[in-house]
Amino acid sequence: MVSQPQLKILISHDEIAKAVDRLAREIKRDYLDKQPLLIGVLKGSFVFMADLIRQIDLPLEVDFIRLSSYGAARESSGKVRVIQGVKTPIKGRDVLVIEDIVDTGITTSFLLDYLRKNKPTSLKLCALTNKPSRRKVPVSIDYLGFTVPNKFIVGYGIDCDEKFRNLPHIYTLEDIDNFSDS
Ligand code: IMP
Ligand code: MG
Repeated sequence: MVSQPQLKILISHDEIAKAVDRLAREIKRDYLDKQPLLIGVLKGSFVFMADLIRQIDLPLEVDFIRLSSYGAARESSGKVRVIQGVKTPIKGRDVLVIEDIVDTGITTSFLLDYLRKNKPTSLKLCALTNKPSRRKVPVSIDYLGFTVPNKFIVGYGIDCDEKFRNLPHIYTLEDIDNFSDS
């Protein structure tokens, strides 16, 4: 049986658009005269990244990386694997990682360590959302959209079991324990 998910708007698309504008201005200011390589963490960052890069008129490049720590579960296993690596050489590049959400910090801190080994000139992090109440590993976020409460969020690229990525706003999923499509 498909239970009806209870979605409540947490951040409207208007607020998201304003934050994207602000972040793009900050990034453009900091990377003037540079050709940054933006690395999007799949899949959650793809909507955010698509909007963000169109507000940054710099000769930037994009690539993607896919990691797994969750599987279909909602709690981090604590073990992160690279499923699909970055194709662009990052040695000597100004790399900016684009994340959907920093939750426990386990995924992001693994990723930053992994990329740092390849000797980029600079390595910074842009995250659409931050859930600091859940942090287990410290992560420093250079460009942040929103701090969110300790609730499960979906929409604007962010999923629950692969659903809700297409929603325009960011919502809290109130009945996550009951949400099931099986
Ligand atoms: P972390 O390793 O715990 O920081 O988890 C990072 C990843 O877990 C994020 O990039 C998301 O893919 C996923 N995640 C964490 N919290 C949420 C949430 O509230 N909604 C959807 N995905 C989440
Ligand atoms: Mg993610």
